Amino acid sequence: MKVLGLETSCDETGLAIFDSELLAEGKSGLLGQVLYSQIELHATYGGVVPELASRDHIRKLVPLFEELLAQCNMDKQDIDAVAFTKGPGLIGALMTGALFGRSLAYALDIPAIGVHHMEGHLLSPLLGANPPEFPFVSLLVSGGHTLLVAAHAIGEYEILGESIDDAAGECFDKAAKMLGLPYPGGPNVARLAENGDSNAYELPRPMLHRGLDFSFSGMKTAVHNLIKDTPGSDTDEQVRADIAASFQHAVVDTLVKKCVKALKQTGMKQLVIAGGVSANLHLRQTLEQELAKINATVHYAPLELCTDNGAMIAYAGYERLQAGQADDLAVSCVPRWTISDLPALV
Ligand code: KG4
Ligand code: ZN
Repeated sequence: MKVLGLETSCDETGLAIFDSELLAEGKSGLLGQVLYSQIELHATYGGVVPELASRDHIRKLVPLFEELLAQCNMDKQDIDAVAFTKGPGLIGALMTGALFGRSLAYALDIPAIGVHHMEGHLLSPLLGANPPEFPFVSLLVSGGHTLLVAAHAIGEYEILGESIDDAAGECFDKAAKMLGLPYPGGPNVARLAENGDSNAYELPRPMLHRGLDFSFSGMKTAVHNLIKDTPGSDTDEQVRADIAASFQHAVVDTLVKKCVKALKQTGMKQLVIAGGVSANLHLRQTLEQELAKINATVHYAPLELCTDNGAMIAYAGYERLQAGQADDLAVSCVPRWTISDLPALV
């Protein structure tokens, strides 16, 4: 089955074709993908402007679809089903992909399914070289969400903990802005941190001893005060690298300690990390070290599938279509949607 995946929940227009026959042959299942990032469009404003995002998705969807078909050497008649991101996300942006996908499926007389964006992230490591097996603990860390989930099976997600305020990616983005680095902040902070000393400055580890929930807003204030009180924080590259490294280390340390706690609490031995922040190399390395100590393993998607993309939507859609699920003709997007509300596969 060849499934077209469409991702338009925020500032990336991602399209991909997942082919289950390739997966059966032991390959990744990904026939092809195209991705257009609106980063430059929003950079001037320091964050995503929803109306501009929707308009740009509309401009890009058709040309990207044609590019994808050419890349896969396919005609649109060769597509067997369409999966689009139905939520959570920006309502206008979601509607562009949903309407495009639903209409295309109607015209081709094939099924369509609306996919939960975070389920797309959660399942993306299954497209990687070292896929996990259910059950596992999943740390979902993106620009909008920080969640620890016990994933018992597809659609059986138990939320163990979540951020009570800012998401981890949002915290990276805000710290970057304070350091004068361009949007999106995560990769830029990580790059600056490469030459820094992660123990140079002491930053808080919020809610470390309080269950499995997270809080990152205090971290934001702490970074703000550190920058304000540290001479050279705007001019001296070494000072700036030390601040970035200390900040990154504080966030990673907090995430890792909660992951270890979640694994111990559930008795599970596999951790999956997904979402934009799972691209962070310091996070990956620290998890590998710490999980080895408790005989657990960490699994993640290939780097290009950590941030938003169409492949994860195509794959999550495939799994649900395969189980007989599909959306009717009405297009309804869900901007706020809890992953634990998803139906199980059977
Ligand atoms: O999953 P994603 O692409 O979009 C959302 O669904 O939000 O995640 C984007 C977030 C941004 O906050 C970005 O700064 C962060 O992921 N991010 C990173 C890295 N790459 C992306 N954060 C830390 N280190 C990175 N290497
Ligand atoms: Zn995302």
